[in-house]
Amino acid sequence: MTRKVLVLNGPNLNLLGTREPGIYGRETLAGIETNCRGRAEALGLAVEFRQSNDEGRLVTWIQEAPKEHAGLIINAGAYTHTSVAILDALSAISLPIIEVHLSNIHRREEFRHHSFVAKAADGMICGLGGQGYELALEALAKRLAQ
Ligand code: DQA
Repeated sequence: MTRKVLVLNGPNLNLLGTREPGIYGRETLAGIETNCRGRAEALGLAVEFRQSNDEGRLVTWIQEAPKEHAGLIINAGAYTHTSVAILDALSAISLPIIEVHLSNIHRREEFRHHSFVAKAADGMICGLGGQGYELALEALAKRLAQ
């Protein structure tokens, strides 16, 4: 059976394409999803892509992830820097977790330098735009094969 990876996207990532293109580029979330599907297929994985502006919904999706998914990729958007609830949910599951950010959060405002998600993630990719999601899939594929 093909293993499924859950890709979670947090607040405002639904606006990609028009949101601050100087920082996030012109690629839409739907475009990133399409590329991820292609890459996942090549890696023998399936992806399920979700986005929510609600912290509680993201927490519930994280809690439920192990029922159906073998790994998790998360771009928690601004909740990265604020949400202990998301950190607690990520810490409560035992799946490989890769954190992704489109922008290089370390090159930006100081409040973006700290990530709660990072405390529960196996690795983090930031600053490479949508390509970061594909690299995260590659990292998960390798971990899942081990
Ligand atoms: C982001 C970086 C966050 O600081 C910001 O709040 C986002 C997007 C990124 O992908 O670069 O919404 O997670």
